[in-house]
Amino acid sequence: MNDKPEKFIDENGLRLDGRQIDEIRPMTIKIGVLSRADGSCYMEWGNNKILVAVYGPRELHPRRLQKSDSALIRYRYNMAAFSVEDRIRPGPSRRSTEISKVSREAFEPVVMTNLYPSAVIDVFAEVLQADAGTRTAAINAASIALADAGIPMKSLVAACAVGKVDGKLVLDLNKPEDNYGQADLPIAMTQDGEITLLQMDGNLTQEEFKQALEMCKKGCLQILEMQKEALKGKFGEDAAIEVPED
Ligand code: CDP
Repeated sequence: MNDKPEKFIDENGLRLDGRQIDEIRPMTIKIGVLSRADGSCYMEWGNNKILVAVYGPRELHPRRLQKSDSALIRYRYNMAAFSVEDRIRPGPSRRSTEISKVSREAFEPVVMTNLYPSAVIDVFAEVLQADAGTRTAAINAASIALADAGIPMKSLVAACAVGKVDGKLVLDLNKPEDNYGQADLPIAMTQDGEITLLQMDGNLTQEEFKQALEMCKKGCLQILEMQKEALKGKFGEDAAIEVPED
């Protein structure tokens, strides 16, 4: 069945879900929702529902995988079987393996793994309900769960996607925009604007790409503020990320 909308942006410049082209979906954040994990976060972003658990730093087994000068980060992105309309087959897929890899790499530049030789930091991101942008939502939640676990990081990481529909760039794609749009550009960045993940589907001109980056940066800055507010809500005003000496 093809349920491609005829138009994605109406005559008032609003999208199918009523948002402006540069508006992100509403986000709610709960921290420390899992008592067994060292850090955790439950996030709703639009209709996405994501749960992230962080364990570690803890000793890595088997020992032959240990790195003598740093901790290993493992990141597992997984979609629950019931998270989308068609049941997701349990177990890793090409897509989840790719998302796990790029998401791990989005955190490697910020997590101070050098402080924990021979250890492992495990990030489990479970998508309970998916509605486009789950990799970016999971990264936003993982960033908070890592902070909740007290893991030293040089910066939080925030992520969102820019796409193109009806020939216009739009921030934070919803499902129809993601499925039928002309481009999808998920990006993760630090609070200094250092990009730690960039992927792209579809086509953009060089000029559109530059504009998309700027748009994404603004979205990520808003998300960083929400992440910080949520952490302050749990840990108080002193929740600033402390950067220990190398
Ligand atoms: O979720 P994200 O945008 O990071 O990744 P995607 O591969 O671009 O998937 C876009 C959306 O398609 C997901 O968020 C799901 O809503 C949906 N999807 C699905 O219905 N079934 C799948 N097997 C994979 C994705």
